[in-house]
Amino acid sequence: MSARKQTDMAGELERLPRHIAVIMDGNGRWAKKRGLPRTAGHSAGADSFRRAARYCQKLGIEYLTVYAFSTENWKRPADEVAGIMALLEKYLRQALRDLEKERVRICIFGALSPFAPELQKLCRECMERSAVYTGAQVNICLNYGGRDEIVRAAKRWAADGCPELTEHTFSGYMWGGDIPDPDLLIRPGGEKRISNFLLWECAYSELYFSDVLWPDFDEAEFDKAIAAYQHRERRFGDVGKSE
Ligand code: IPE
Ligand code: IPE
Ligand code: MG
Repeated sequence: MSARKQTDMAGELERLPRHIAVIMDGNGRWAKKRGLPRTAGHSAGADSFRRAARYCQKLGIEYLTVYAFSTENWKRPADEVAGIMALLEKYLRQALRDLEKERVRICIFGALSPFAPELQKLCRECMERSAVYTGAQVNICLNYGGRDEIVRAAKRWAADGCPELTEHTFSGYMWGGDIPDPDLLIRPGGEKRISNFLLWECAYSELYFSDVLWPDFDEAEFDKAIAAYQHRERRFGDVGKSE
């Protein structure tokens, strides 16, 4: 049963997460299980991401933020990094071609300077040309690290002349600016850690871990994650509803 149907039945449409974040992990193991090179896993992971973005848009999820390449992932073998870069380029070119059909705003979170000039240009073009679409937003985290984001935010704040600082105004210096924090953070791939993802923004996100590897994380797995989220009681430090 789809998550939308489940929520309709429960009459709780408002309990759909507005913002879902995903650590797209397990591509390498998915490939290894099949005797394929790791890059084949990343390619399958990219397909899974496309499917996930369409499904989230269909469900009415306003924001989807995916972890595609971390500040730590540069440690990987050069050929794997090159393979991921080639896939990113392919994805962005396709996204540019399909902008009008998909009608999704694309944002990149992470400093682009370490990337090849052509890839940087594609990232900027995607962001600029998709900015007109305001219905659904997909944030792709590239060369992203949660600590790096906080340090950069602090630097930008200082460069602004250190204006009055609150948690809210500081959030405005993060890559996502004023978008709402993720309601639900999904990590497929079996690991139970955050791996430097959205350290500031996930302060109160509901966490969902799954052993399913990212390339196999399909619509039904999203439904399971959303259903689990809908059964959580978000207390934000308050006492529960039943108290
Ligand atoms: C996640 O899959 C993709 C990136 C980090 C780029 P992995 O490549 O980490 O897959 P596993 O964890 O080795 O299976
Ligand atoms: C997290 O996965 C980064 C991305 C999915 C892009 P990793 O595979 O890099 O994380 P660790 O090494 O298991 O913490
Ligand atoms: Mg991994």
